[in-house]
Amino acid sequence: MDVHDAIMSRRSVRRFLPAPVPMESLRRIIEGAGMAPSGHNIQPWKLYVVGGATKAAITGDILDAIANGDPKDYVPEYPYYPTKWFEPYQARRRETGFGLYAKLGIARDDMAARQAQMSRNFEFFDAPVGMFVGFHRDLATGTYMDVGMFIENLLIGARGEGLHTCGQAAFTWYHSIVRRHLGMPDEELLACGVAVGFEDTAAPENEFRVDKLPIDDFTTFMDLD
Ligand SMILES: Cc1cc2nc3c(=O)[nH]c(=O)nc-3n(C[C@H](O)[C@H](O)[C@H](O)COP(=O)(O)O)c2cc1C
Repeated sequence: MDVHDAIMSRRSVRRFLPAPVPMESLRRIIEGAGMAPSGHNIQPWKLYVVGGATKAAITGDILDAIANGDPKDYVPEYPYYPTKWFEPYQARRRETGFGLYAKLGIARDDMAARQAQMSRNFEFFDAPVGMFVGFHRDLATGTYMDVGMFIENLLIGARGEGLHTCGQAAFTWYHSIVRRHLGMPDEELLACGVAVGFEDTAAPENEFRVDKLPIDDFTTFMDLD
């Protein structure tokens, strides 16, 4: 697939088919991700790829924690989202959330249905493969950029294999559970999860398309002919 086509066709898919992901595809995607640049080539990323029993155990324990645990025990290790939203980000965030709920027929004030859809994250949206990306917590802010590039390579590389993905910051709330199942060392911080699989093209949640800004809204061109 042409690089531009791979980039333009990437979007977050939130219902996957049970079809397995070939191991050769996974290895190619990961090989591509590992080619990401990083300051001083420190290659700070750690990747865990789970399927089958491990994935099911993570799902089961997180859903159990949601049903029976104390929410105070489940907080992210780093702030992915701002604690106080402001414009224009607040409006974009709302539009994205409500756009997805609209496709699913979930009313804005139906908090139970919204929570149920949120919990679908922990089923990896039915994807057969779940990935978790981590890095050493003593590294600096720049590492978040390096790891972001690694993650984007995973997402774009998956398109090259005919696969789709969804980034999953939702897992950061439950890092203690994920960590236990992965054997992730204490010094590693869980950046996010990524669901990987083949898109269920019949699913209403996959009809949702976010708006993207025209390039002139976020680009300043200077002295270019
Ligand atoms: C690091 C990262 C974490 C994300 N976490 C979640 C998540 O937990 N659950 C979810 O449904 N989508 C998640 N997303 C998907 C975003 O909502 C999505 O990228 C955004 O709405 C733009 O849509 P697009 O990916 O289709 O372009 C995440 C995306 C990224 C990059």
